[in-house]
Order: sequence, then structure tokens, then C-alpha cells
Amino acid sequence: MRIALLAGDGIGPEVIAQARRVLDALGLDLTYEEALVGGAAYKAVGHPLPPETLDVARRADAILFGAVGDFDCDHLERHLRPEQAILGLRKELVLFSNLRPAKMFAELADASALRPEVASAIDLVIVRELNGDVYFGEKGMRKTADGLREGYDIMSYNEAEVRRIAHSAFRAARARRGKLCSVDKANVLETSQLWRDVVIEVSADYPDVELSHMYVDNAAMQLVRNPGQFDVIVTGNLFGDILSDQASMCVGSIGMLASASLDANGKGLYEPIHGSAPDIAGQGKANPLATILSAAMMLRYSLDQGAAADRIEAAVAKALAGGARSPDLGGTMTTSEMGDAVLAAL
Ligand code: NAD
Ligand code: IPM
Ligand code: MN
Repeated sequence: MRIALLAGDGIGPEVIAQARRVLDALGLDLTYEEALVGGAAYKAVGHPLPPETLDVARRADAILFGAVGDFDCDHLERHLRPEQAILGLRKELVLFSNLRPAKMFAELADASALRPEVASAIDLVIVRELNGDVYFGEKGMRKTADGLREGYDIMSYNEAEVRRIAHSAFRAARARRGKLCSVDKANVLETSQLWRDVVIEVSADYPDVELSHMYVDNAAMQLVRNPGQFDVIVTGNLFGDILSDQASMCVGSIGMLASASLDANGKGLYEPIHGSAPDIAGQGKANPLATILSAAMMLRYSLDQGAAADRIEAAVAKALAGGARSPDLGGTMTTSEMGDAVLAAL
């Protein structure tokens, strides 16, 4: 099983190193191919997603990704910025279905931003569309008729894009508690009206799944009022980005949320939902659990190693139960001590 390891920038290499230790301890037949990505790639070869890196990703069975983003690069033309690497991988490999599970580990009730009795019920998955929306529409800077600078980004979805993510989400709901909440802004946006219409059309194929709709502003509120009401949430690229960061704090930390970005055939890229965290990079403060849990998702979804994935998830729960806490979880353990705790539990 060939894994492309794309560590990237900031805390990316720090958290990937711990995930690799955990994977190595499983005794599976895994080989790794490392490649430059993000600001690190720009600084080395002048492009955030060099063709060699895309090749490595294409020929791997699965991709484990750290994070990209580097303040030194924020002045570059947009196509050269580190973030274009992850956007490019998602688009080039047609990784349109992004699963972002948020489940409360009982041991972390004290780390949640919510009261324990509200947080304890959280067990949801956000299914975020990754290949469309305002992220990939025409964008630019121009001048208005009266000479003012104006930035614009076109938001759009076509029905095929909505249909395929809707099928992913209905299948995910069917495999869980059978509830799907589609989040949009159909009271204002045409993009969202189409989204809602198509989700309703697709629902005819899934009579066993209970479908509901919610406006995104209400969803943001409901996520902290009563997150236990959600099973699967399906939403567009931008809303899903925002709601998943919010969901992470409901279960304790952004350092806990893993993700899978899948194509139509089970090929996937696996990454924590967080970024390169330049404010803590190089200090051993990063929580590696989101990346370790992403490696578990990789084993389950792309490598057909469900038992090994279960072992990792059980080891993370056991490490937390044993008191493993990085600073984001209210503790003092370093990134590698968190890795040690998971290995010991494994
Ligand atoms: P961020 O997720 O990097 O950090 C937000 C906050 O959360 C920071 O205070 C950070 O220290 C903390 N944090 C993040 N991950 C953590 C972890 N594992 N353990 C402990 N604390 C953690 O978001 P940001 O600060 O808005 O962005 C920083 C850079 O990362 C930007 O360049 C941004 O574009 C990029 N980014 C990349 C990705 C990605 O690679 N997929 C995702 C989000 C942001
Ligand atoms: C994420 C990130 C990315 C996104 C950025 C870095 C392009 O925030 O993976 O959640 O907005 O999708
Ligand atoms: Mn994000």
C-alpha cells in the first residue's frame, strides 16, 4: 500500500511525524513517498504544487496530508500561494466529498467550549462539497465605474456537482443513524435554491433517510445550542469550511478533527481540518491527534484496513482516558509526548 506523505508547512511536518510513528507501529505493509507541498514547495522549487508532487499523489493508493500556509507567502500572486496546493489536489484528483466527523470523546468533556451535558451528545459528520462553490468560480479585482477598487468571487454550483455530493451524504446517513440535514442559504442565494432542489430530487432514492433543511445561520446557532440533533450535515464548500471549525471546538479542539476527501472510487486524501498554525509552529505544542485520526480514516476508507483503523481510534481514546493532553486540550504534553501516549496505548 503506497502512501503519499505531504507534510507541508508550519505544524504540518510535526503532526505528520506522529501519524507516521503510529502507522509504522501497526505492522502493515506500507510504503511512503514524501513530496514537497505548499510554502515549502514554493520556497524550494517556485510552485506550491509542483508536477512531481501531483504525480506522487496520483500514483499513491492514498494521500496523508499535513497542512499548508505560510505568512511569508501571503504577498504572492494567488496562484503561487501555499493554499493553492490543497485546492489544486482536491480539484485535480476530483476529491469532491469531504467527510469531517465530530464525535465527543467522553474524556474530553472538560475541553469542549460547551457545557458537558450539551457536548456529550455530539456524534455528527459534516459532508462538505470540495470541488465547487465560491472557491472555484471566477474571481478578480476590478474598478467600479466611479473608480473604486472592487473584489469579486463568483459563487455557483451546477446540478451534477450537487447530485454527486448529495448521493455521498445520503449514503453516509444510511450507514449511520439515517438522518441528513442539508444546510444552505436558499432564502437568499440562487446557488442554494438549486442545491435544495437537487437534494430533494436525490432524496427519492433514499426513502429510509430522514431529510431536513436548515439555513446556515440557524445551523451555526443550532450547532452550539443542541449539537446532538445532528447526524449527517451536507453543505457546500464555504459553509462546510466554517461549520467544521466551529464543530471542532464543540468537541474540544481544532486539533481533534480529522477528515477524508474522497473521489468517486474511494481514492482519498486524509488531513486534519486545521491549518499550519504558524503561531505555535516549531514549539512542540501542536496536537497530533487530528492527523493520527486522519490516518485511521485513510486505513478504513482507502486501504481496506478497518481493523487497524479501529485500533488507532481505540488507542487515541485510551490515551485521552489516561490523561494525554496537549496545550489546546488544557494540558502540557508536547506533540511527540502525545504520539508516545498513543503508541503506548496501541
Ligand atoms: P489554523 O487552523 O492554522 O490555526 C487556528 C488556531 O488553531 C491557531 O491558534 C492554532 O495555533 C490553533 N491550532 C490549529 N491546529 C492546531 C493543533 N493541531 N494543535 C493545537 N492548536 C492548533 O488556522 P489559521 O491560523 O487561520 O491559518 C494559518 C494558516 O494555515 C493560513 O496560511 C491558512 O491559509 C492555512 N490553513 C491551511 C489549511 C490546510 O492546509 N488544509 C487549513 C486551514 C488553514
Ligand atoms: C480547510 C482550509 C482550506 C479550505 C484552505 C487552506 C484553502 O481552511 O481545509 O479547511 O478553505 O478549504
Ligand atoms: Mn478550514
